[in-house]
Amino acid sequence: MVNAIPSLLGFSEKNGQWFAEGISLRKLTQDFGTPLYVYSKEAICSAYRAYDSACIRPDGTRRARIHYAMKANSNLAVLDELKQLGAGFDLVSGGELARALHIGADPKSLVFAGVGKSSAEIENALRVGVKCINVESIPELQRINAIAKTMNLRAPISLRVNPDVDANTHPYISTGLKDNKFGIAYYEVLKTYREAALLPQIDVIGIDCHIGSQITSTSPYLDALDKVLDLITQLQREGIKIHHLDLGGGLGIDYGGESPPNITEFTNTLLNRVEERGFCHLEVLLEPGRSLVGNAGILLTQVEYLKTGVDKNFCIVNAAMNDLMRPTLYEAYHAIVPIHVSQAKPNCYDVVGPVCESGDWLGKDRVLAVNEGDILAILSAGAYGFVMASNYNTRGRAAEVMVDGNEAYLVRQRETPESLYENERTINQASALK
Ligand code: LLP
Repeated sequence: MVNAIPSLLGFSEKNGQWFAEGISLRKLTQDFGTPLYVYSKEAICSAYRAYDSACIRPDGTRRARIHYAMKANSNLAVLDELKQLGAGFDLVSGGELARALHIGADPKSLVFAGVGKSSAEIENALRVGVKCINVESIPELQRINAIAKTMNLRAPISLRVNPDVDANTHPYISTGLKDNKFGIAYYEVLKTYREAALLPQIDVIGIDCHIGSQITSTSPYLDALDKVLDLITQLQREGIKIHHLDLGGGLGIDYGGESPPNITEFTNTLLNRVEERGFCHLEVLLEPGRSLVGNAGILLTQVEYLKTGVDKNFCIVNAAMNDLMRPTLYEAYHAIVPIHVSQAKPNCYDVVGPVCESGDWLGKDRVLAVNEGDILAILSAGAYGFVMASNYNTRGRAAEVMVDGNEAYLVRQRETPESLYENERTINQASALK
């Protein structure tokens, strides 16, 4: 049963008031308004350090590298902090490639994944010289070979293996089952590597696997890992050399009752298995997203109205499904807490937004002591929060702030209505422009 407040680093409650590092959340809402995403730099950096230290052996040699899955939160400030700590990046679009280059990431620290890469995206990734393209199908492999030929270069690739392992997570974020659209079916992988090794413009350098997201146990990873290591053994026998093993991301976080393994324990378990099976020479890549940023961010929202009904009470807030889509899309639970103690009588509410959809809810059946005008914090919103926001109902996307100690930085301005239609034209205006 999920119903507790997750343990959050970077956010704390003191004397009935909530703080992001050294700044009260109330002050942040006064300075920046609501809805407002707030990230703790310290929380992001400490999650990264937990991964990174598990990736280094006692003798100082490295046994794995972190490639942050920027789809979880691609704000430039988040990317830049992680880059400074030494992270590489996992990308899934030309847009994400542009962001990575914009913050000065080394192209050799970039891995390009995704099930439907366009020719332009492939060409661009090859031109800038990414470390590896993770190939998700046989036609994609052929397309990459053809593009590399026109560019007179060899494309470094991994094949993404679909290991047919159940990650026991929400069906929309499970990716390693044979019915999912992702990766190359396990039984076809060896055959595809043989084909890839013969393609003149293809350089086979690695193997890749990602079984899903918000996974709260290590065992599906070990099952997938064993299956992938079996493939590597066979490939080696056939003389196809695999330099790196990319294990994807997917480690879950505590949203309010789950107990995933901690980062250190999880990373050690996987890397120990790789080494126990004799693959000490393999470079291992990990692609965490949510576990680096999920609990490092919250969404602040103001209560507009308290509406009492016959069967239900509604706490209508100024954030909505367009700001945080996870509840309505996955029925995901996010803890919701008032940021200061109120004298209001506690009541049970559905916390909903102003969008014209019954699916526009952020939390159901929450007991809250709130008055109109109070501020609520929606917790664990640092991953797949802002990045999945939309402009539905012509709502500008929220501002984003990063807190570092006693300083708060506006790392993305709130969108204005004008900015939402600045690229649009009426037919008359459009024909005048022709
Ligand atoms: N690598 C690959 C190839 C991925 O597809 C993903 C996530 C990751 C790494 C990072 O996974 P993470 O460590 O963040 O679990 N919007 C959903 C999550 C979608 C995840 C997609 N792929 C949500 O809000 O739960």
